[in-house]
Amino acid sequence: MLNRWAMVLTVAIGSVSLLTAMAHAASQLQIRKQPFGTTASNEGIDLFTLTNAKGMEADIMTYGGIIVSLKVPDRIGKVQEVTLGYDSLDGYLKNNSPYFGAIIGRYGNRIAQGRFSLSGREYRLATNNGESHLHGGNRGFDKVVWKAEEVRSQNAVGIKLAYVSKDGEEGYPGMLSVTVTYTLNNNSELRIDYSATTDKETVVNLTNHAYFNLAGSGDILKHEAMINADRFTPVNAAVIPTGEIRSVSGTPMDFTKPMAIGARINQKDEQLILGKGYDHNWVLNRKDNKLSLAARVVEAASGRVLEVLTTEPGIQFYTGNFLDGTIKGKGGRVYQQRAGFCLETQHFPDSPNKPNFPSTVLKPGEKYVTTTVYKFSTQSK
Ligand code: GLA
Repeated sequence: MLNRWAMVLTVAIGSVSLLTAMAHAASQLQIRKQPFGTTASNEGIDLFTLTNAKGMEADIMTYGGIIVSLKVPDRIGKVQEVTLGYDSLDGYLKNNSPYFGAIIGRYGNRIAQGRFSLSGREYRLATNNGESHLHGGNRGFDKVVWKAEEVRSQNAVGIKLAYVSKDGEEGYPGMLSVTVTYTLNNNSELRIDYSATTDKETVVNLTNHAYFNLAGSGDILKHEAMINADRFTPVNAAVIPTGEIRSVSGTPMDFTKPMAIGARINQKDEQLILGKGYDHNWVLNRKDNKLSLAARVVEAASGRVLEVLTTEPGIQFYTGNFLDGTIKGKGGRVYQQRAGFCLETQHFPDSPNKPNFPSTVLKPGEKYVTTTVYKFSTQSK
């Protein structure tokens, strides 16, 4: 009898301490909200700070749903900024931000000539990149104010952003209701869940345009990247996919094994010349559309590792080719070419004009749902 009580007591104490430990970890997941300024039309912008038990911090604002800052520990626990951007809202409003940290929509990357047809009708979009439509047009989702709601679960904290894009906005058909939920957990995963519904047939391709530099300064040429893709979509002179799906094998686009980003970037390769470096869509290797590893980048000096997981079929790997030292960003840092890289999970550029690419059409009654995770860790020397 005594033994039985002793056992019950041990189990009870065990469960209490387990619960306490869980509560402790959860209590280190926090959300803070603060005003971050006002737009030209006097709309108040909020900044949400998500923190976890590992010392990671993500700052996200309601203007453009922009990741303003991501601070991540290195292998000895030193926490540093790993994204490019500005210190204040004004930086984003006054400068022509190259989409630092922003939500991109309705359509990530380019649509040729800003035109496409759906069910026999041609639509004309804003052309904001030469003759092409880029990243949603003149006022894409990176420049609108999102409504925010805090979300908390047992293992994560976050914010759910919502925006309703009017029928005809930037030339797109249909009223599109979009939500983007950012959450942070104690595995140092910043998860982004995108959803959208429409009242008319339309196209949609949402992503995030964060620029990373895992060293916290300098360029990204020594970072080692792996992209889980045997194929990519070559581009023409307007950086629009030609429609071909080409093997990476034997080319500087082959990142199937980890390779320094800078190792081949200046080779006289037609695709690298057209992109001014890497600015291409890789066709991810996948068996199904479950969340799976798309890319892994390691910065050996700090030991920081970034893994990108996604449900999307493609990823745009862009090496900050258009940064040219004219932007003074966080802490007065001047961003030279290759100061950061982007891994934009997506459907392929110009899919509305490429019948052989996976479809980006969304119909009334359907729900667009995609997920991308940016997971941080460290590796030893
Ligand atoms: C994307 C494009 C690039 C460039 C950047 C923003 O990644 O593919 O060509 O437009 O955005 O500067």
